[in-house]
Amino acid sequence: MNYKVGVISGDGIGPEIVNEAKKVLDAVGAKFGHKFEYTEILMGGASIDVHGVPLTEEAIKAAKESDAVLMGSIGGDTTTSPWYKLPPDLRPEAGLLKIRKALNLFANVRPAVLYKELKGACPLKDEVIGDGFDMVIMRELTGGLYFGERKTVEENGVLKAYDSLTYDENEIRRIAIRGFDIAMKRNKKVTSVDKANVLDSSRLWRKVVEEVAKDYPEVTYEHMLVDNCAMQLVKNPRQFDVILTENMFGDILSDEASMVTGSIGMLSSASLNETKFGLYEPSHGSAPDIAGKNIANPIATILSAAMMLRFSFDLSEEADAVENAVKKVLADGYRTVDIMADGCKQVGCDKMGDLLAERI
Ligand code: IPM
Ligand code: MG
Repeated sequence: MNYKVGVISGDGIGPEIVNEAKKVLDAVGAKFGHKFEYTEILMGGASIDVHGVPLTEEAIKAAKESDAVLMGSIGGDTTTSPWYKLPPDLRPEAGLLKIRKALNLFANVRPAVLYKELKGACPLKDEVIGDGFDMVIMRELTGGLYFGERKTVEENGVLKAYDSLTYDENEIRRIAIRGFDIAMKRNKKVTSVDKANVLDSSRLWRKVVEEVAKDYPEVTYEHMLVDNCAMQLVKNPRQFDVILTENMFGDILSDEASMVTGSIGMLSSASLNETKFGLYEPSHGSAPDIAGKNIANPIATILSAAMMLRFSFDLSEEADAVENAVKKVLADGYRTVDIMADGCKQVGCDKMGDLLAERI
């Protein structure tokens, strides 16, 4: 079959890691008889440099016309890059928020898995790690503080800034359903994370999650306050299966969860709407400090491409082939510098892509 893949290479290490993901997708295409047609879409700093804005209407249209979008990363060094001298709504990140909203990508799935070959990279003690952990953060992505009204005003000579956090029950319900659905395919446990001891939006969150839970009698669920969850993630990460949470909490907790795996360069993510469409991107950022040096780890992007095969194209055998290639490459002792360990062979970004493509 032919699949139309929109490609947002983006900024920093984005273009390098996306190249390697395309290499692996092409190897999948050759082996399984598919053709992936790529359309480059500008977003972030790359779009600002050409069009003066981080995302154009044409770019949104191109994304909508694709079967799925594969993305590298966007943004630059916030202290030195000229992009950050622009007004906030013209900076690279504004492009990402705009595309999430325009494509209604309300469900952000971020797996945090400890690979047994990479146990050494995990910053936690052996007794905490045990046999490893495997959780998914289901983050609401188009509501809350990120999209509430915001403004900065001067009142009586004093600057005052407002950001508002709003959720309606429908926004909560649809993400909760996604969280419980994914739990049904995993270990059937949902931890819904909120700050219901303080926030009204969290109290509504809890109420709606409880209603949704009634339709999933097989799923065990619990509520956890976000501050406690931040602590539990380092104290006992093995207790989690699906963490279901709102936009801002999910942003913070997903970085924490990925760090406890010790290998943020390995973690994929998918942003989904009500259809088969999705935007797939690594969980890490654009790492401008190492851009162009051929040392970035392309595996998170390659695993994101595997998620694209599985969720958007229903190609589960092909997705398995990519995930198994990653396991094989690690078992064969190849590492990029971020996950390098004694006795392993260090390779660059492009070589890692070659080794993975060979193992498809
Ligand atoms: C993420 C990122 C974005 C977010 C930034 C780049 C706007 O941190 O995808 O987690 O906060 O959502
Ligand atoms: Mg983030």
